[in-house]
Amino acid sequence: MKIKKAVIPAAGLGTRVLPASKAMPKEMLPIVDKPAIQYIVEEAVKSGIEDILIITSRGKTTVEDHFDRAPELEDRLLRSGKQQAYDEIVAISKLANIQYIRQKETKGLGHAVLCAKTFVGGDPFAVLYGDDVILSETPVCKQLCDAYEEFGLGVAGMKEVPTDQILKYCSLAVENIRDNLYKVTDMIEKPSREQLFSNFAILGRTVLPASIFEILENTPYGAGGELQLTDAMRTLAKREGMVGVDFEGTRYDMGNKLGILQAIVEVGLIHPEVGSEFKEYLKKVTSRLS
Ligand code: UTP
Repeated sequence: MKIKKAVIPAAGLGTRVLPASKAMPKEMLPIVDKPAIQYIVEEAVKSGIEDILIITSRGKTTVEDHFDRAPELEDRLLRSGKQQAYDEIVAISKLANIQYIRQKETKGLGHAVLCAKTFVGGDPFAVLYGDDVILSETPVCKQLCDAYEEFGLGVAGMKEVPTDQILKYCSLAVENIRDNLYKVTDMIEKPSREQLFSNFAILGRTVLPASIFEILENTPYGAGGELQLTDAMRTLAKREGMVGVDFEGTRYDMGNKLGILQAIVEVGLIHPEVGSEFKEYLKKVTSRLS
């Protein structure tokens, strides 16, 4: 079955990137000239997604404004002959059919996904974390949707991460099926060193069947007092089975300060407008480093 719906949770408080995220959603932080969440919406669209639900919260209205028409700005661009900028701005508002719902309290990623229950209905759907930009040849969301089509099971996008980092994510118990595809048999959110299954963590993307909602409704609040999507996916993996895709792509975590810097430097270096100048500038800077 083709996946046509996606949910983008973007309601978190972003405490790791304060003060930038005090009055501006971290999902709107730009990588050079494009907000993180636009990369994510574009990835979903390139993966065949038609309907998107963005989960927002107080103080996140700029996300809605970004994907809306901007008549005054459009008019000004047209009148001053800036056709290319006009086309670009209008295209953003036509990317997909985007809807919004507010998560009234930030009770965790699982709680945010639960807000999508009515939107999703009975169909399987993709989840793209609103602060995880992943650049790749084949969109990662598509890599996961393809695995869903093949196996008919929930799919987790995963990568191996260093041990000190996995303690902050979740650890997966996996068995290789073939190539980059794995059977996921168990998982644990924010494990201690003794609890590690492997260094594979779920990063930024999943495809889930609608049965996840009933599971979420019956999952107790977990690590950090939040309703953890990982805890619900654990039940899903044990009950129905789940597949892991060791995806191809470079991930930038826009929810932490180093991730933001890495994204800007790498995208800046290949940016068509400023890339070559930026490269020269960086060479000068790096030659001063010891
Ligand atoms: P994070 O755990 O990175 O978000 O969730 P956070 O809570 O904003 O981060 P810190 O720890 O305070 O810095 C991953 C994605 O899930 C969304 C976030 O907006 C982010 O895009 N999220 C998280 C929600 O939508 N609701 C929540 O209750 C929590």
